[in-house]
Amino acid sequence: MSRAIRIEPSILSADFVNMESELQRIATADAVHVDVMDNHFVPNLTFGPQMVKRVQAVSPVPLDVHLMITDADRWAPGYAELGAFSVTFHAEAATDPLALAAALRERGSRAGIALKPGTPADEVIAHLDAYDQVLVMTVEPGFGGQGFMDDMLDKIAVVRAAIDAAGTDTWLQVDGGISTSTIARAYAAGADTFVAGSSVYGADDPVAAIASLRDAAHA
Ligand code: DX5
Ligand code: ZN
Repeated sequence: MSRAIRIEPSILSADFVNMESELQRIATADAVHVDVMDNHFVPNLTFGPQMVKRVQAVSPVPLDVHLMITDADRWAPGYAELGAFSVTFHAEAATDPLALAAALRERGSRAGIALKPGTPADEVIAHLDAYDQVLVMTVEPGFGGQGFMDDMLDKIAVVRAAIDAAGTDTWLQVDGGISTSTIARAYAAGADTFVAGSSVYGADDPVAAIASLRDAAHA
C-alpha cells in the first residue's frame, strides 16, 4: 500500500502552561491536532477561540481543529475564520452538516466531520464530496490516554471503500488510542491521518515518537 500517512499530535496531552515550546517539539508533524471541548458535548473542558488563535500564531505546523462542542453550526465557522487549516465538527452536534461544511470551506478551511463510536457512517458516506476529512473516533471523545477500540476497524474500512468508490480526496482520520502497537491496524483498515496524543507527548522525544509512528503504520 502506498497511501499517505499523516501524523497529527494532539496538544490535549501537552503542557498547557508551556504551549509555545510544546508546539516547537512537534515541528516534524504534519499538523497539530487541537481538541476544543465545552464540558457539554463531552464531559471535559479545554479552551476556545482565544487559545486557538494564539496556537495558530505560534505553531510551526498547520492546525487541525477538532470541535467537541454542541451547536457546531453556530461556533465552527469562527474557527475557520481564525485561519485553521482544517476544522472538524461532530455529526452528532450539527443541525445541518452539509451547510456547515460549505461554510467552513467558504472561510478557507478544510471541512471535517467526526463520528462518535456509536454513530454509523451511512449519512456521511452518502455525501463525501461535501467533506475534506472524515474522522472516525476510535475512543469515546473526551479524554486522552484511552484504549483503541478495535471494533471501529470495520467502520474505517467502510469509509475507506466509500472514499475510493467516490474518488474524492477525502482524508480518513482516526483519533484515540493510536500508538506504535495500534497504528498498523488502523492504516490497514484504510486510515491515512492519525491523531496521537499520549503516545507523542508522553514520550521523552516527540520527534522520535512521530517517526516511530510513521514506520509502524506500514508494519
Ligand atoms: C479525545 C481527543 C483526542 C485525544 C487522543 O477525545 O479527541 O484527540 O487527545 O489522545 P490519545 O492519543 O492519548 O488517545
Ligand atoms: Zn481529537
